[in-house]
Amino acid sequence: MRLWGGRFENETDQEAFLFNASISFDKRLIKEDIEGSIAHAGMLGKCGIIPEEDSKAIIDGLKGILRDIESGGLEIDESSEDVHSFVESVLTERIGEPGKRLHTGRSRNDQVALDMKLYVRNRILNLDMGLFHLENALFKIILDNTETYMPGFTHLQKAQPVSLSHHMGAYFEMFMRDRRRLKDIYESTAYCPLGSGALAGTTYALDRDMTARELKFTGGPTRNSMDSVSDRDYVIELLSALSTVMMHLSRFSEEIIIWNSNEYSFVEIDDRYSTGSSIMPQKKNPDIAELVRGKTGRVYGALISMLTTMKGIPLAYDKDMQEDKELTFDAIDTVLDSLKQFTGMVETLKFNKDVMERSAMKGFTNATDAADYLVKRGMPFRDAHSVIGALVLKCIAEGKALNDLSIDEWKEGSELFEDDIYDAVSLRTCVESRVTFGAPGHESMEKIIEIYREYLDHGTMKDRV
Ligand code: ARG
Repeated sequence: MRLWGGRFENETDQEAFLFNASISFDKRLIKEDIEGSIAHAGMLGKCGIIPEEDSKAIIDGLKGILRDIESGGLEIDESSEDVHSFVESVLTERIGEPGKRLHTGRSRNDQVALDMKLYVRNRILNLDMGLFHLENALFKIILDNTETYMPGFTHLQKAQPVSLSHHMGAYFEMFMRDRRRLKDIYESTAYCPLGSGALAGTTYALDRDMTARELKFTGGPTRNSMDSVSDRDYVIELLSALSTVMMHLSRFSEEIIIWNSNEYSFVEIDDRYSTGSSIMPQKKNPDIAELVRGKTGRVYGALISMLTTMKGIPLAYDKDMQEDKELTFDAIDTVLDSLKQFTGMVETLKFNKDVMERSAMKGFTNATDAADYLVKRGMPFRDAHSVIGALVLKCIAEGKALNDLSIDEWKEGSELFEDDIYDAVSLRTCVESRVTFGAPGHESMEKIIEIYREYLDHGTMKDRV
């Protein structure tokens, strides 16, 4: 059924119809579309804009359609132009005359603005949950590994030793920020566009507060009808937040891939999250991590597409905006799937703790601490830096670590060295003496763990809405 046939003398070209149609993808919005229509019809009845009994018939009819869709008893007919036309035509088929009154004081422009906003808000709750599960998996690793030592890197060169807890804590922080961004978007989308009409509101005395309340938009109705039907900022904000989630997952994936390589062997990805080669029998590949890293490009693509689509649109609604759907749906699906697989991979990841510790002992990760030893005994830092630099050079030439130097060799560098240098440059001391707030030392990490624990105890956004 075409909702707008009256003014036309000829049928739409078949291919143009298909080009224009959105049912193949906006059918995803059916639940939100029906919820919005139920709220609208209820309000029309209460305000006396349509007869109460018609309003009731519409609501019952819509509920029946939703039930049948959910049970599989009703299939979405893809020859409709869009999900809005489909629902209205089934409704009218089922209840007759009253169905034709549903669209009073409404346009598909405010309808689709509403559907999309509701959809995005609902999915934000799922995304938040996905991130929460990942945080819980990380928290377990953080708890168990405050005294698992490993090299920390800069420039992918061994730098200073840290703990595995602390390294995982860096990702925990990133995912905390991701969830905060989602929460901000959820809060800033708490305004309901329904009642904005095509662009200029309507002449009916709609109660927009009532529909906003009914649909749980706590901020009430939006303030400008032209902006309401053409605002997709929140879609861009979501795609930006999701791009950042993927950037974080991609960095983490990259590290897991490096750590899982034969050369590093810091971790072993579980069989459940690796794949083999069709030709090389020995291979066990980190495909899941690589795919997550790869899919990041798709989500960035959605963000750039959406920004580009919106940049030339004159006020108010233009059909360009229909392009928001496929890419937003795809980005949300991609992030939800990536989070799920990534969490499973992290939960089953085996850490080769001894390899990590051995690696931290090599590569002079304790050189700064050796210099600090001299500084604590009065030497200016710049001089200490140069003394240790010379000792490192000597060790490299002789193929040993700083810890392997005899006390006489240390003393050749500086008379300030005593026997306690060995303890001062031990891996444990190097990590455990870093106890300023936010540093990797056990004592400092325990305080952060308490903060994380309390944060996780708050649960998800879904628990609170
Ligand atoms: N399928 C359209 C969209 O997604 C629905 C709104 C149609 N409005 C219109 N005036 N043609 O944006």
